[in-house]
Amino acid sequence: MKKVLILSTSPRKNGNSARLAQEFEKGATSASNECEIIYLCEKNINYCKGCFGCFKNHKCIINDDMNDILDKMKKSDVIVFATPVYYYEMSGQMKTFIDRTNPLFQANYSFTDIYLLMSAADGDERPMKRVVSGLEGWIECYSKTRLKGVVKALNVTNVGDIENHVALREAYNFGKNV
Ligand SMILES: Cc1cc2nc3c(=O)[nH]c(=O)nc-3n(C[C@H](O)[C@H](O)[C@H](O)COP(=O)(O)O)c2cc1C
Repeated sequence: MKKVLILSTSPRKNGNSARLAQEFEKGATSASNECEIIYLCEKNINYCKGCFGCFKNHKCIINDDMNDILDKMKKSDVIVFATPVYYYEMSGQMKTFIDRTNPLFQANYSFTDIYLLMSAADGDERPMKRVVSGLEGWIECYSKTRLKGVVKALNVTNVGDIENHVALREAYNFGKNV
């Protein structure tokens, strides 16, 4: 049994990338893993201040929802990011979140396997290249981790567009085989 933490970063709680997150969760839960989705749109997460207080105190000086999430993240085996593509990049919410993981940089975190689930309006994969590359930068800094799987839902714009999309099945299968 693995501990799986899914970060759904879209401001749309039932949007396309959130649906990928939910399918991943269903798959992981069906295989008896312990799984939780956190919807960042329900959380109060501020920008990193760049103070490096976390390197001294092993905790962020900002008193918002991030310290609780970092605690869960540290104890997880698998981390999943779900994001819409925004201007050929990850969502700003996801980048803000990633910057706030800085207290984990020197911590004894458990996670090794990272998954990325993406949705985009475009019909070709080009806009997703930089999302992968952006996350790979973070993965390079967290040397125990590796990018284990990527799901790309193309041609989805509005909430609901993703229903019956093959990417939902891919997300489910990644979750099931986590
Ligand atoms: C600010 C903004 C920027 C976007 N930029 C892109 C883009 O560069 N390429 C693309 O294919 N879709 C782009 N989209 C469309 C979203 O990626 C698409 O609607 C996605 O399915 C939304 O996922 P969500 O429902 O999880 O929020 C953009 C949407 C917004 C709101």
